[in-house]
Amino acid sequence: MADLIDGKVISKQIKDELKEKVAALKKEGIEICLAVIQVGNDTASTVYVGNKKKACEYVGINSVSYELPEETTEEELISLIDRLNSDSAINGILVQLPLPKHIDEDTVIKRISPDKDVDGFHPESVGRLSIGQRGFVSCTPAGIIELLKRSDIEIEGKECVVIGRSNIVGKPMAMLLLRENATVTVCHSRTKNLKEICKRADILVVAIGKPKMIDASYVKEGAAVIDVGIHRNENNKLCGDVDFDSVSKVAGKITPVPGGVGPMTIAMLMNNCVEAAIMNE
Ligand code: GUN
Repeated sequence: MADLIDGKVISKQIKDELKEKVAALKKEGIEICLAVIQVGNDTASTVYVGNKKKACEYVGINSVSYELPEETTEEELISLIDRLNSDSAINGILVQLPLPKHIDEDTVIKRISPDKDVDGFHPESVGRLSIGQRGFVSCTPAGIIELLKRSDIEIEGKECVVIGRSNIVGKPMAMLLLRENATVTVCHSRTKNLKEICKRADILVVAIGKPKMIDASYVKEGAAVIDVGIHRNENNKLCGDVDFDSVSKVAGKITPVPGGVGPMTIAMLMNNCVEAAIMNE
C-alpha cells in the first residue's frame, strides 16, 4: 500500500513558515496586500477565491477583493488592473479564471504587471521560468515540487512523466522538473502508447481532467503519483484523475483527492505574495 503524501499537513507547514516571515516583515514596517478579482459568480471560483482570502488572513497578508458583475467589460477590467498596477500598496494581483466569454483572458493576464503577477501566468513570468531566471511560478506546479521535496522524493535524474500540457499546470510542471534535473516526458490527448510511457515514470504527475482515468496498469511499482485532477463523482464525492483505490496498491507514494495538491496551490500563492513584497521593497 502506497504512503500518503499529505498536502494538508505540508501546506500548513508552509503557511506557518510564511506566517512567521510575514510577522517579521510587519515589524520592519512592510505590509503585504493581495488584490483578488472575480468577474461573475462561477460557483467553483467563488469557493477558490474564498479559500484564498482565508489563507491570506491566516498568514497575515491583507487582501482586497473586487467582485465584479458578469457584464463587466474588458475595458473596465483592464482599467481596474491598471489602477492596481500603479498602486504601491498592492503587492499582488490575482484575476480568478475562467473569465466570462466576452473577456479575452490572454489580454487581461498580459496587462497585470509582471512584478505583481503572483499567479505566474504572465508571458514574462512563463518566459523567465523557461530560461531559468527568477520570477513568479504558477502555484500548482510549484506546490507539487514542494510536495515532492518535503516528502523526501528525489527528483534529480529521475524519469518524470507529466500527463497534460496546459499553460497553468502541465507546461510549467515540465519546466520545473527539468530545473530539478529530472528527465521529463510530457504526454497529452494525442500521445500514442500512453500506458507504456507512464509505466516508465518514477514520478507521474497526472493533470488530464478525466475522472479516475489512470489506474494501476499505468503505474510502475513504487512510483510517486501526483494527482492534480478534481471532480465530483456520481455520488457527489470528490475524486481525482487517478483511480486512487487501484493505484495506491502499486505506487510507493500517492496524493489523495481532496487533501493532496489542492491545498498546496494556495500555500504557494501565499509564498508568491511574500516574494512580491520582498522583491518590490
Ligand atoms: N482558476 C483555476 N485555477 C486558478 C488559479 O490558480 N489562478 C487563477 N487566477 N484562476 C484559477
